[in-house]
Amino acid sequence: MSERRKVLDVINLETTFFTDDGAVPAVDDISFSIYEGEILGIVGESGSGKSVTSLSVMRLIPSPPGKITNGQILFEDKDLVKLTDKEMRRVRGKDVAMIFQEPMTSLNPLFTIGNQLLEAIRIHHKKWSKQQMRARAIEILKLVGLPRAEALLKDYPHQLSGGMRQRVMIAMALVCNPKVLIADEPTTALDVTIQAQILQLMKNLNDQLNTAVMLITHDLGVVAETCERVIVMYAGQIVEEAHVQDLFENPAHPYTQGLLQSVPDMRFKKEALYSIPGSVPKPGTIEVGCRFADRCQFAMPRCTTETPKLYEVASGQMARCFLIEQVEVLV
Ligand SMILES: Nc1ncnc2c1ncn2[C@@H]1O[C@H](COP(=O)(O)OP(=O)(O)O)[C@@H](O)[C@H]1O
Ligand SMILES: [Mg+2]
Repeated sequence: MSERRKVLDVINLETTFFTDDGAVPAVDDISFSIYEGEILGIVGESGSGKSVTSLSVMRLIPSPPGKITNGQILFEDKDLVKLTDKEMRRVRGKDVAMIFQEPMTSLNPLFTIGNQLLEAIRIHHKKWSKQQMRARAIEILKLVGLPRAEALLKDYPHQLSGGMRQRVMIAMALVCNPKVLIADEPTTALDVTIQAQILQLMKNLNDQLNTAVMLITHDLGVVAETCERVIVMYAGQIVEEAHVQDLFENPAHPYTQGLLQSVPDMRFKKEALYSIPGSVPKPGTIEVGCRFADRCQFAMPRCTTETPKLYEVASGQMARCFLIEQVEVLV
């Protein structure tokens, strides 16, 4: 792990939406890094700020109403936050690429797979000949396990199954060899068997190409099977960070513990599935204290009057909880 190179370093990132209800800090001072070749999972319930984090890294936050209001996103020698739109277009797709949640909304129904793939290549390889581009398009379709790649170039998105469309999306994201691939809930819209195939494909590609992958999901089962390291987000903040094994064996934050309890366990089919009572607060509504306090079974008086920081649980594991701070004082 330590000899691996850091490819992306997010420092104190804050992204705010300026709405009629006021400023909403959807991502509130988060810091994390991704290393070459690793799959980093980002988990949390809906509304915790996962998509806003990934769109911020891609500099695709709709503006207005959104804006990156603080922090740095370091990629190689560049701070992506500071790049002009033109400079960012050179980075997007070539250095950092993204697979979106809904393939049908990101593939254009009016153009063939070939058109869209060649366009993605053309943006970054203007000097390539038609044959070179076509060869690369076929090569990448084969790499993502699509049969009859040449014929596929002439197909329209609606002619493909959901699983095939998701493979095309992965091909489009990888076609210019990005160093970082962000996948935002890439399998949510797929049925379970296809979901497993797509995750296996992403793991194989990650092994083969050494791309750093940021995998966003609300599904801890996906994390367990795919990721090396995990970040747990809650109400715009990171509440826990750990290696995947530590997260499952020794979850430190009560929110993580609650998420793990909500995972269906096939051994105990008859038990009703647990779900954490309450819901994620709207960003910006809790100014002081722990944002999870009103849903936490371990909440103490200080949890609503003082704001917890991220405390070290063990090497490589941190949690934003006073229970951890107390452990630290005891030892
Ligand atoms: N376009 C927008 N306008 C206003 N607020 C937004 C917008 N997009 C996201 N938000 C705010 O950011 C929060 C986190 O959203 P998101 O990152 O999409 O969550 P998720 O973890 O489900 O991906 C939302 O609950 C909402 O308050
Ligand atoms: Mg999302």
